[in-house]
Amino acid sequence: MPHDFMPGLAGVPAATSSISDVDGQRGVLEYRGIRVETLCSKSSYLETAYLLLFGQLPSTTEFQRWVTDITHHRRIKFRIIDLLKSLPEQGHPMDALQAAVAALGMFYPGRNVKDVENNYWSAVRLIAKLPTIVAAWARLRHGDAPIMPRDDLGFSENFFYMLTESVVPLLWDEIFDDCLILHAEHTMNASTFTGLVTASTLADPYTVVASSIGALKGPLHGGANEEVVVMLQEIGTLDKARQYVEHVLQNKKKLMGFGHRVYKVKDPRATVLQELCRRLFKECGSSPLYEIALEVEAAAGTMLKGKDIYPNVDFYSGIIYDKMGIDVDLFTPLFAMSRVSGWLAHWLEQLRENKLFRPDQIYSGEHNRPYVPIDQR
Ligand code: CMC
Repeated sequence: MPHDFMPGLAGVPAATSSISDVDGQRGVLEYRGIRVETLCSKSSYLETAYLLLFGQLPSTTEFQRWVTDITHHRRIKFRIIDLLKSLPEQGHPMDALQAAVAALGMFYPGRNVKDVENNYWSAVRLIAKLPTIVAAWARLRHGDAPIMPRDDLGFSENFFYMLTESVVPLLWDEIFDDCLILHAEHTMNASTFTGLVTASTLADPYTVVASSIGALKGPLHGGANEEVVVMLQEIGTLDKARQYVEHVLQNKKKLMGFGHRVYKVKDPRATVLQELCRRLFKECGSSPLYEIALEVEAAAGTMLKGKDIYPNVDFYSGIIYDKMGIDVDLFTPLFAMSRVSGWLAHWLEQLRENKLFRPDQIYSGEHNRPYVPIDQR
């Protein structure tokens, strides 16, 4: 049966899912039916991860067990550290993360994906260990020894500790935790779809997550958060913002951190992130990048009027991380550290009624071509 070809599979459902939903006209994002703004104000990243994976908010006992399990699986093997040490320090952290996650699967075989108990522990290990890998890489490439996780610290608190060897102000933990909630899941995006395709072959979850990390890296997807800060730094001063936007649009280039396949209004995550920026700057002083970003948004608002192109999640997140002193090329790994819970939720959902992804194509080449010997070509 012939089908219409939809470039980028735009608007083509790839799965039925009860994990999250986007209303792109109203700018609403829900995880398991709960609005993301509500989760930011009332929940924590780990509780949200539980909700995504298991479909319900945990009871007190379930939550205690979940937090304990994650906390006790944060450490990484010294061979993973050795692997990281052997990679070129100028390489991109997303590549280091992808290599380390693929290697985790050799230490914790998860090939029997019909084993529900084993799948639970794979999910725990991946959510627990990604921050440890990111922090270890961030230190190793500067010649510093990795710092082992501390069981007495919460998820976000511990991440900063492993990164900086210090315990940061409570406000930073709260803001960072909200950033993790906002990035945890987003329906059928490129990295989730990539993970689903891998999952449908019944590959182990480490391979699933490693393939998703590869897709997230690209600048049209998660890599945009890094590109936004580079762009804002390049603009440099407030007075150059408008001219910069004009130049980008006149040359038919894309403004990084703007536009979305599904949202036709401002991404609700960008709105929450702006509020987080304001909270952070009230305590720690403003950021010139934020002022420039506001000017870029205003200029783009005028120049892109009627095109339904607004800031997306990647526009304001990097400004927060930059203010917290995190290296720009770690922004996309932070996205992965959070999105791993969404990827795993889709992995578990896919396994329940698995069907191998094997789409069709529309062949546009020739048939019955003669083979021409090399001396006659
Ligand atoms: N700046 C300027 N013009 C844009 C932009 C932008 N950021 N995004 C879309 N457009 C224009 C595009 O030029 C095209 O115009 P025309 O119809 O005149 O040729 C039209 O809008 C449709 O663009 P498209 O690229 O075909 O649409 P899409 O649905 O494939 O775009 C997107 C989605 C996210 C790839 C795109 O908006 C983009 O490249 N944005 C910049 C990169 C970015 O911020 N990515 C993060 C996405 S959100 C988080 C995530 O997924 O990680």
